Amino acid sequence: MRIIESVSEMQQQAGAWHREGKTICLVPTMGYLHSGHQALMRTAREGTDVVVASIFVNPTQFGPGEDFERYPRDLERDTRLAEQAGVDVIFAPRPREMYPEGFQTYIEVSEVTLPLCGQKRPGHFRGVTTVVTKLFNIVKPHRAIFGEKDFQQLVTIRRMVRDLNMEVEIVAHPIVRESDGLAMSSRNTYLNPEQRQVALCLSQSLETAQGMIDNGERNGEVILKKVREIVEARAGARIDYAQLAQPETLEATGALDGPCLLALAVFVGGVRLIDNRILYPAK
Ligand code: PAJ
Repeated sequence: MRIIESVSEMQQQAGAWHREGKTICLVPTMGYLHSGHQALMRTAREGTDVVVASIFVNPTQFGPGEDFERYPRDLERDTRLAEQAGVDVIFAPRPREMYPEGFQTYIEVSEVTLPLCGQKRPGHFRGVTTVVTKLFNIVKPHRAIFGEKDFQQLVTIRRMVRDLNMEVEIVAHPIVRESDGLAMSSRNTYLNPEQRQVALCLSQSLETAQGMIDNGERNGEVILKKVREIVEARAGARIDYAQLAQPETLEATGALDGPCLLALAVFVGGVRLIDNRILYPAK
């Protein structure tokens, strides 16, 4: 496995692969890899010639007061985990090369970035779509894999790719969870053992919501009320948002007459965690 840090070297390598007729699959990450990231990398490995994983803690997607500085970083450990998962090249550019002085061009997707995390983290998705566009231009992938853990991010990237005629296939990967249900996240490392237990209220409340639907509940407000109760019953947990949305447009919905996204953001101590589940009325 190779590590490439230079943008121009990565572009040249990608160009060479294209000329050789090789297919490229990209897994964009911010590093501090876990088994969720590795699952995306293993999926990337299937049906492509070259797998590139990018590792870049992207400053433009963090708001003021968020955790950019303290976001966990360990390239040595990431290198090991990426290699295990079958990655051929790690692209780990330096912030100064990705955002040189004078940088002033951004990609903005409108409606789907307005609710949920978009409402709570202004500018976040603008940072994500800008860096992902740059990564696409540098790595020139035929395919890129994104996790459903960041459901709004996935919907936003799909929208951008369609709207801007980008020639990259977006593949979604299901949420990878710890054995007790907690969605894997690099930010879980911020949690102390007690908070780690409290954090289970996210996945537990999502499961309860599906259980209510299985028992015939069709009122979105009743389901959201229960979700809020479960979370707020835990000392140290505070809801940032709990919402039901249409899975393609992310528009708020109260109607449970088809698949519906239940999206959650919860502060546990000072740590903001997200999770979601598509609820199916039919099942
Ligand atoms: P990061 O949080 O490192 O996540 C990288 C990719 O892994 C994303 O597509 C994310 O959805 C996926 N992922 C993380 N945890 C997961 C889990 N438990 N199950 C399934 N997939 C999971 O998302 C980002 O980085 C950044 O916003 C990025 C797209 C790299 C742009 O900077």
